[in-house]
Amino acid sequence: MNSSDRVRTQYETDRNLAVRIRFQQTYSVNKQGFSAFIESHYDLEEGMRILELGCGNGSSWPELKKRLPDGCSVILSDFSAGMLDAAKARVGDHPQIAYQVIDAMDIPFEDNSMDVVIANMMLYHVPDLGRVLSEISRVLRPGGIFYCATYGENGIMSWLNGILSGYMPPIAMNTAFTLQNGLAALERCFERVERADYPDSFRITDSGDLADYVLSLTSMADFNALSREELIGLFDSQMTDGAICIPKEYGLFICRKKRSG
Ligand SMILES: C[S@@+](CC[C@H](N)C(=O)[O-])C[C@H]1O[C@@H](n2cnc3c(N)ncnc32)[C@H](O)[C@@H]1O
Repeated sequence: MNSSDRVRTQYETDRNLAVRIRFQQTYSVNKQGFSAFIESHYDLEEGMRILELGCGNGSSWPELKKRLPDGCSVILSDFSAGMLDAAKARVGDHPQIAYQVIDAMDIPFEDNSMDVVIANMMLYHVPDLGRVLSEISRVLRPGGIFYCATYGENGIMSWLNGILSGYMPPIAMNTAFTLQNGLAALERCFERVERADYPDSFRITDSGDLADYVLSLTSMADFNALSREELIGLFDSQMTDGAICIPKEYGLFICRKKRSG
């Protein structure tokens, strides 16, 4: 399986993603929630055309749709039809929201046609980051805003690799677009780029849930060296005062396309 097939298989349905979203919601110390943090930065105004790429199950939109300014139109898109079905089921029919299967590598809209583009937690999956960023810049109008959330390189994956080293090969971490290297890639396509970090960590009280999280990762799909029970035993040994504490590193880039003239 090549890496593009792997991403498609991982997101054929929202099952793996749902495991990880539930884990995040249950064990994150910062109860604002990363989605609410991201949404608090969105600057949506009347009449805007908004495109979300790789929307997944559309988790932000049940709340966001309640406060969409008048005249805004939103296209929720993903390259996985199964994922888009999950988004439709979750967000539902709304007069200002449409759904469309779109591969971020080829965005089927005209130049300068969007006021806002959103691509959260997905840019590290695309086969050609430079091409996707130039597609996004192309469809944004001058002065339009691009929001993209991602993770850092010092979060749960590096913690897991420390704990599991000696038992299994390191979990391959996808570092194609992180908080550390994302800025340089974005600055090649956008005039102004800001980074907003979300302060958080995990406090996990059930090793079984951590084992399920690990098993939901694509990079673990071909790996059978440790069973779920063995993972649970290993994680239990990391408990202190009934909890395992693990660092998190997440944030949002806010980018503006150069105004013409
Ligand atoms: C980790 S999920 C993030 C979902 C959502 N944006 C969120 O923050 O919860 C990544 C999503 O990107 C989608 N995806 C991956 N590569 C894509 C591509 N080239 N074009 C469009 N969507 C893609 C996947 O199908 C999946 O729904």
